[in-house]
Amino acid sequence: MKILVTGGLGFIGSNFIRHLRRARPTWRIINIDKRTYAGNPANLAGLDVETIKKDICDAKAVDWAMTGCDLAVHFAAETHVDRSILDAGAFLQTNVIGTQVLLDAALRRKVRRFLHVSTDEVYGSVAKGYSKEGDHLEPNSPYAASKAASDLLVRSYFVTHNAPVLITRASNNYGPYQYPEKALPLMITNFMDGVSFPQYGDGKQVRDWLHVVDHARAILLILEKGGLGEVYNIGGSYTCRNRELIERVLKLMGKGKELIVRVKDRKGHDRRYALDCSKLKRLGFKHAYDFEKGLRETISWYRDNPRWWRPLKTAGGYRSYYQTQYKGR
Ligand code: NAD
Ligand code: DAU
Repeated sequence: MKILVTGGLGFIGSNFIRHLRRARPTWRIINIDKRTYAGNPANLAGLDVETIKKDICDAKAVDWAMTGCDLAVHFAAETHVDRSILDAGAFLQTNVIGTQVLLDAALRRKVRRFLHVSTDEVYGSVAKGYSKEGDHLEPNSPYAASKAASDLLVRSYFVTHNAPVLITRASNNYGPYQYPEKALPLMITNFMDGVSFPQYGDGKQVRDWLHVVDHARAILLILEKGGLGEVYNIGGSYTCRNRELIERVLKLMGKGKELIVRVKDRKGHDRRYALDCSKLKRLGFKHAYDFEKGLRETISWYRDNPRWWRPLKTAGGYRSYYQTQYKGR
């Protein structure tokens, strides 16, 4: 079995490859990744995988990488909501055009199953109840809109070309190797240095936390057992308000609440995401991580691996992003 992974140098892609190496040791893995600021070769250190440093918008490179592949799992994307608010250009290019380039190559190269990794953000903010796979899409940030556009494109290739596609929509992931711009690794690494965490607005926004290894397990299950043309929600095992999450992390790290600083809210900030995951459960999925265990392990991982995250936070690109995003907020 030969599988193409896109974006395998990123947070979820690299955790998926690590899981695949354990769960399907004989598979040959090809990874195509442009190596943006979020793509880090250290994430795949020691793993048997062939990485091609190319853009998924490069049709020739994608066609070459896809040749002979039975399966494809598409993670590559611009993924940070705050960056999409500052500048949406790269989000449209990679998330929409890149997905189209991959779909065309998958058709040409007769890939048997193509799984597109998407997000619960495509449903928009849900005041009450739970989003089901058939709900209409109401994305609110440029990031979410670019992901919704790519979901619809994938769907159109199923209807028009009978392409063998699957779509997954996951909630907020956490775990090792997450770039420290996202809330959880940002707060853990800031707290280690005695630096405050900027809480957006009142902190009452609700997120559903999914351990990245559970996400990887669900993707492999859906890749092998899911129905073609179907969408599957992948939710986490714990839902809470941001303020509760921050206080929980502070407590586990033995730090005080003075490290929380309330700052101006994110524009268009979604108040609540919540997924109905009964379709995934019917495929037989059960979480392996409860949040307490997952969070403790994640904090320990960042504590044990400053050599992974510290160079990322001191790099010029990160510092200028941090300045632009948080200065004067
Ligand atoms: P990430 O930002 O950590 O990694 C993205 C990877 O894609 C990087 O390795 C980057 O180099 C690569 N990439 C970006 N543009 C590329 C391009 N043009 N060509 C080739 N490679 C490119 O992202 P992540 O958090 O691991 O997210 C992976 C996928 O999962 C995304 O599609 C995202 O929308 C989706 N998702 C993420 C979450 C989450 O909580 N992080 C939740 C649900 C869904
Ligand atoms: O829900 C799935 C999505 O989760 C993925 O599709 C995205 O790729 C991923 O980035 C994530 O989006 P969020 O915007 O929910 O994640 P983020 O870690 O940026 O923020 C989590 C919550 O914390 C959110 O309500 C905003 C808040 N936050 C975030 C940052 C970075 C703060 O209060 N302060 C911050 O500095």
